[in-house]
Amino acid sequence: MKNKTVLSGMRPTGKLHLGHLHGVLENWKKLQEEYHCLFFVADWHSLTSEYADTKGIGDNVNEMIIDWLSFGIDPENATIFVQSKVMEHAELHLLLSMITPLPWLERVPTYKEQMDNIRDKDLGTYGFLGYPLLQSADILLYRAGFVPVGIDQVPHVEFTREVARRFNFLYGDVLPEPQHLLTQYPKLPGTDGRKMSKSYNNSIYLSDSDEIISKKIKTAMTDPQRVRRTDPGDPEVCPIYSYHQIYSTDEQRDYVVKGCKSADIGCIECKTILTDNVLCELGPIRERRQSFVDNPSRVKEIVEEGNIKASAMAKKTMEDVRRAMRI
Ligand code: TRP
Ligand code: SF4
Repeated sequence: MKNKTVLSGMRPTGKLHLGHLHGVLENWKKLQEEYHCLFFVADWHSLTSEYADTKGIGDNVNEMIIDWLSFGIDPENATIFVQSKVMEHAELHLLLSMITPLPWLERVPTYKEQMDNIRDKDLGTYGFLGYPLLQSADILLYRAGFVPVGIDQVPHVEFTREVARRFNFLYGDVLPEPQHLLTQYPKLPGTDGRKMSKSYNNSIYLSDSDEIISKKIKTAMTDPQRVRRTDPGDPEVCPIYSYHQIYSTDEQRDYVVKGCKSADIGCIECKTILTDNVLCELGPIRERRQSFVDNPSRVKEIVEEGNIKASAMAKKTMEDVRRAMRI
């Protein structure tokens, strides 16, 4: 099955939370067993909205790669690299910009949505409009067959297919059209019941200590109707129960559901079971994390090797692209 290339990227938003782990990374880990995978940090993509404050980006790149490695993204199986270290991304982006009609970019749903919703930054830039085209360059540069993404990114892969088709129509068949692989995210709310997100301050991070994780679970929201210990609760509306669905055994879940509905157990007991399970599962991952934190040169070496492998692939594609365009 190693005949198709899988490529995916993540913007360096910083430390990863449990939602990322059980969504994107779980999926990447499975894919690396079956395909030739390229996983990269899309640091130039961060600039499209964070251009006014770039000081955190470098650290975020590093933290994110450490989280990937700790979780089990394996440099023996996958090529791990950084977008800004492979200049061909910029060259292909520029060449594709020559053939991309403006209305194609203006009608990408994420563009309209973010222009309407983000008020604290000026997104009226050339770079921000070009975000999906930079993503197309990322994908086409490695002739990726499959691109695992969440539902919001599917239009970007569709857009990439249109760009590839236009290139091939103008200059000959060079860039294969990629398919998206839809990543299903498990329902993992934040500690306040809303979507887990850095900006809501409701996330549990892989890099959090045991104490912090215990405290976050202890103070997390439960079924709001269950005010007193003697009130029966409904696990279906409780964020803690969503976590039990990922971290607990069938028997434990059974025990929690019955005990909650009959008020036989209290939320404190329910949360203690969960905390033990979460800490037990994250333990080995966080041990690995610490070993990478203690050995920054090993991380650097892995990324440099990845950058070299990615560059070699990118160079080959660009030779074909330049030849096809006669430049
Ligand atoms: N836009 C993607 C996101 O925000 C990140 C990304 C950049 C990406 N380039 C990519 C994803 C190429 C897949 C393929 O999640
Ligand atoms: Fe939620 Fe558990 Fe409390 Fe029920 S007992 S409300 S599932 S924390």
